[in-house]
Amino acid sequence: MIRQLIVLFFSFSLLIGSFANANEITLYTQRHYDSDKALIAQFTEKTGIKVNVVQAGADELIERLSAEGDNSPADMFMTVDAGRLERAKTAGLLQPLDSDLLKQRIPVSFRDPEGHWFGFSMRARILAYAKERVSADELESYEALANAEWRGRILVRSSSNIYNQSLMASIIAEHGVIGARDWANAISDNMARPPQGSDRDQMRAVAAGLGDVAIVNTYYLGLLLNSTDPKDRSVGESLAIFFPNQERRGTHVNVSGAGITKSSKNKENAVKFLEFLISDGAQATFPAATHEYPVAKGVEWSELQKSWGEFKVDPLYLGVLGDLNEAAIRVFNESDWR
Ligand SMILES: [Fe+2]
Repeated sequence: MIRQLIVLFFSFSLLIGSFANANEITLYTQRHYDSDKALIAQFTEKTGIKVNVVQAGADELIERLSAEGDNSPADMFMTVDAGRLERAKTAGLLQPLDSDLLKQRIPVSFRDPEGHWFGFSMRARILAYAKERVSADELESYEALANAEWRGRILVRSSSNIYNQSLMASIIAEHGVIGARDWANAISDNMARPPQGSDRDQMRAVAAGLGDVAIVNTYYLGLLLNSTDPKDRSVGESLAIFFPNQERRGTHVNVSGAGITKSSKNKENAVKFLEFLISDGAQATFPAATHEYPVAKGVEWSELQKSWGEFKVDPLYLGVLGDLNEAAIRVFNESDWR
């Protein structure tokens, strides 16, 4: 009898345990935006599913997932670079998901064909130039910045930064490693100063007259223009945006995205969260909140994004940015771009 009671007790607690699990997910994310918190709150209100957020650097989260293995509490991994998503997939940390909704709403180049990760917001790596000293018809492509006329005029951050590594991966995909190394050396020759600081710092340096063109992500210009700091707003106002490589392959872009972890114990809830992120409602929040572009078609851009205009996106499958990340680092290490 006692034995039966104990068994009953344990099955009862297991049942309680699985109920407790059933209404939550644990999200490992690199993103730290208040607007993500607002989206999560909306999701919880709509579905009753609680989201436990663990926020850290992408590499740290990847290491943690590897170390935790099947015991990881994580249901979803989220980051701001497709290369890192692909790295997590290659490391066997994600599981495939077949969702017609996600396939239908996310462009093919922005998701893993096997469903291990999905991009939900997009950013372009563009040229922000000094309106006073540069005109748009002087600009053309990433490659053309290697020309001698740009000597001492280019601002770009360090090659250790993932945005530059992903840009480099796209250059390798187009020109091979030798062409890419030549390009890196020429860009390095044309830099206004040795690489330092963030994307926003590059634009601040252009505004201060240190150079004329900065290579940066679109949303950082949005952040400057909407800053609470009037100095940063005037930095933003002194700059114009140019989408490079429109004549040929298109501008290099990247996505924030997420995938369901192999260890997930709440897969159904995690799928619901992914599908929520790609819903019209959630997609519509990105342009205003983070100045990222929605990935789903038919979702309205912000006034600022509309003022920047439509542009041709490099159709390169973004998983390539992960596959070529090591090559990109090697090219940088063999070049003068520190
Ligand atoms: Fe960023």
